[in-house]
Amino acid sequence: MAAEHDPHNAERHKQWYDDDLTEVNEPMRRLLETYSKVEPNKVVEHVNDLRARGFAANPYPCIGHYRFLTLTLPTHPLYPHILSRLISSPSALFLDLGCCFGQDLRQLVADGVPSSQLIGLDIESYLIKLGYDFFLDRATLRSRFLVADIFKGATQGAPWTELEELKADVLHCSAFFHLFPLPDQIRSAKNIAKLVRMGGVIVGRQSGSTKPSEVPAIKPGSTSFRHDVDTFRRLWDEVGEATGTIWTVDGTLDHVGMIGGKNTVEDENSRRMLFTVTRVG
Ligand SMILES: C[S@@+](CC[C@H](N)C(=O)[O-])C[C@H]1O[C@@H](n2cnc3c(N)ncnc32)[C@H](O)[C@@H]1O
Repeated sequence: MAAEHDPHNAERHKQWYDDDLTEVNEPMRRLLETYSKVEPNKVVEHVNDLRARGFAANPYPCIGHYRFLTLTLPTHPLYPHILSRLISSPSALFLDLGCCFGQDLRQLVADGVPSSQLIGLDIESYLIKLGYDFFLDRATLRSRFLVADIFKGATQGAPWTELEELKADVLHCSAFFHLFPLPDQIRSAKNIAKLVRMGGVIVGRQSGSTKPSEVPAIKPGSTSFRHDVDTFRRLWDEVGEATGTIWTVDGTLDHVGMIGGKNTVEDENSRRMLFTVTRVG
């Protein structure tokens, strides 16, 4: 099950399609210029072109609003620890679930992590292909990208079952849970829990709220649940009980990315949530 949206509802989708950018934020510009070797005067055009192609295929607000240009993982409080864990242990594995274009994965490579330790997974193979077009690294990146449905888990066999055997030290899952109503979040988290080794972490960002509740989702008529840290903790308690695992949850709510622009998916209670879910049992 993908985060569903109505592919024929172009009018509605325009609500979260910002005007073309005229400048690209510095961390992403640096990544595109130094890692991808995009010429400085071509960066804006390169980004706008990628956004248009991505949105045409998958009209997510995070694509229309250019949120994929914000490299959030490097700002996560655990990032230095994640880098040293991956760099110091060649067998340590990073898994990006719902990776889309795989921007944070590329930043890890730029920051010195061997790309063979990184795996991206998404339900949409086209977004993975666009990631290669965006970062121009098809010939050099040693990471694996897998196409699978998080909701189907082990019932879809390989490659999911292989990931369950491998297990990640660091699992990145950003802007995924907030696409779905709470029962679906719990269902998907039960599958995700099986991909993390003891002592491993799940990190990410998502839309949170000071008033946790179901809110209208991008698909008309459906909802998605926005958490605060307590409700997210309760989700992982429930997942732990169901899967025989134990998790601790830390997180913060802030205003980053909540202000400015044409923004129809947020309200006055909306916050950015950064989280760390650690497997302790
Ligand atoms: C809102 S985007 C977030 C992308 C990226 N993680 C980020 O933070 O920019 C959600 C991503 O999850 C993927 N996705 C949605 N449902 C999925 C599923 N059932 N299994 C795997 N990936 C899924 C989408 O294709 C999309 O790339």
